[in-house]
Amino acid sequence: MELLAIPTKPIEGQKPGTSGLRKKTSVFMGLHYLENFIQAIWNAVGVQGKTLVLGGDGRYFNDRAAQVILRMAAAAGVSKVIVGQGALLSTPAASHVIRSRGANGGIIMSASHNPGGPDADFGVKYNISNGGPAPEGITDAIFAATKSLTEYQIVETQDIDLSVIGTTELSGMQIEIIDPVEDYAALMETLFDFPKIRALFEGGFTMRFDAMHAITGPYATRILEDVLGAPEGTVLNGIPSPDFGNGHPDPNPIWAKPLVDLVMSDAAPDFAAASDGDGDRNMILGKGVYVTPSDSLAVLASLAHLAPGYAGGLKGVARSMPTSRAVDYVAAAKGIDCYETPTGWKFFGNLLDDGRATLCGEESAGTGSDHVREKDGLWAVLLWLNILAETGKSVANILTDHWQTYGRNYYSRHDYEDVDADAANKMMARLNAMLPDLPGEVIAGMTIESADEFAYDDPVDGSHSAHQGTRVSFTDGTRIVFRLSGTGTVGATLRVYLEKREEDPAKQHNDPQDALSAAIEAAETIAKIKEYTGRDGPNVRT
Ligand code: G1P
Ligand code: ZN
Repeated sequence: MELLAIPTKPIEGQKPGTSGLRKKTSVFMGLHYLENFIQAIWNAVGVQGKTLVLGGDGRYFNDRAAQVILRMAAAAGVSKVIVGQGALLSTPAASHVIRSRGANGGIIMSASHNPGGPDADFGVKYNISNGGPAPEGITDAIFAATKSLTEYQIVETQDIDLSVIGTTELSGMQIEIIDPVEDYAALMETLFDFPKIRALFEGGFTMRFDAMHAITGPYATRILEDVLGAPEGTVLNGIPSPDFGNGHPDPNPIWAKPLVDLVMSDAAPDFAAASDGDGDRNMILGKGVYVTPSDSLAVLASLAHLAPGYAGGLKGVARSMPTSRAVDYVAAAKGIDCYETPTGWKFFGNLLDDGRATLCGEESAGTGSDHVREKDGLWAVLLWLNILAETGKSVANILTDHWQTYGRNYYSRHDYEDVDADAANKMMARLNAMLPDLPGEVIAGMTIESADEFAYDDPVDGSHSAHQGTRVSFTDGTRIVFRLSGTGTVGATLRVYLEKREEDPAKQHNDPQDALSAAIEAAETIAKIKEYTGRDGPNVRT
């Protein structure tokens, strides 16, 4: 075994975003690219003598990247790496392992819901000792380190066999290979009433969980089928594959259409759900219903106390700014704080650590709690199951009851993907320049109440984050948010978030796109989306 110091030079464009660094797989596989980024992480955070966790979602290059990272960890003097068997760990499970084993941090190999494969995407994310994504101070330091690289260090050796659980050693560094599911499954059992959920399945309750050929397959199979006794076949597409069955592992009505079609058909199960590539996102469905992520957050906030882990009530809730304000009404009714944060899970970390929020969520199918420091797909599914078991109600009834009690916030997100970045920036610049003049204007029959660019002051560490999306609110409770994605890998993605409040139960059952038609028209009038993007409409509506 030999320690090599390979001369290298800074590489452009390695700025990690809200979810680490995501690039085309071919870029990561390019000469020194992965190595440079890993060395930059080591240089920025200092890993000598530390314990790290390593795992990924199993996408193409996951196995090779894990070997490189282990050899570089050994070269950097890391004392121990805890690796999921087969180099696999879902994002929430990695977060839990970092926390429960007292590790100093961890590397998660994933590009989340982006497709995998040689022509698709790969990603690397660094999480800190609380189990959450690295905050901006650290991602900035990593970015700075990418610009001053002169060499990377790596141990030259054979591949480590990651297929067998146990402990091994590499150049003085300990490697512990663990069952990727076990710790996580044990944590879930502490939060939820497993006997009650088991009884629900024994009573003939039917469910389908679509793992979308991604990492939650093994987790869902173990927990739902093996432990909770759901019949075999409850988990669909449960074997992870490097290209996710040539699919797009994003649990929404577009990419998980077969599951949505199933719940809208005569063969609908009582409950259905899906998760994404790395297991942190979720989609919730019932017979004939799709529950929007914003509504799901609100329902969970309202009924979480029915699960043992939350029986004492919630300390507070938090949502990202573009997420609908449905949860705000629950928080108000319960008399607990509701925090509005910028997009990206890392902004919840301080609120969870500081005991200000128990539950948090984003409109992009992310929901979670203080049990880990990442959003958690399967956790959300289990909390829903616990609530269904406890109430004996259907998903549709739970939703209708919720709207009657708290009012309904119609919601939809329109995405314009891969638009010209320059045009998108110009559109936003024009819009932002107009903001002071907007209040009082009447557009699509609605009067603008306020318009601003969202900025956030973290109540825990005082940090300030500006330019977090542009919001336009109307006097009738309608709200439009415009934002450019921070996670896309080609061109720019414009996201337009549309919301309309409806308190009258008689009007709570319309199609969301119809209910939002005035908001959609107003968004176009205000921002001139067609003119700037050259698009007739969004390519994804969720
Ligand atoms: C998207 C979602 C955001 C989520 C992030 C990582 O980011 O909108 O809520 O935290 O993915 O999963 P965006 O592409 O909008 O920057
Ligand atoms: Zn994800």
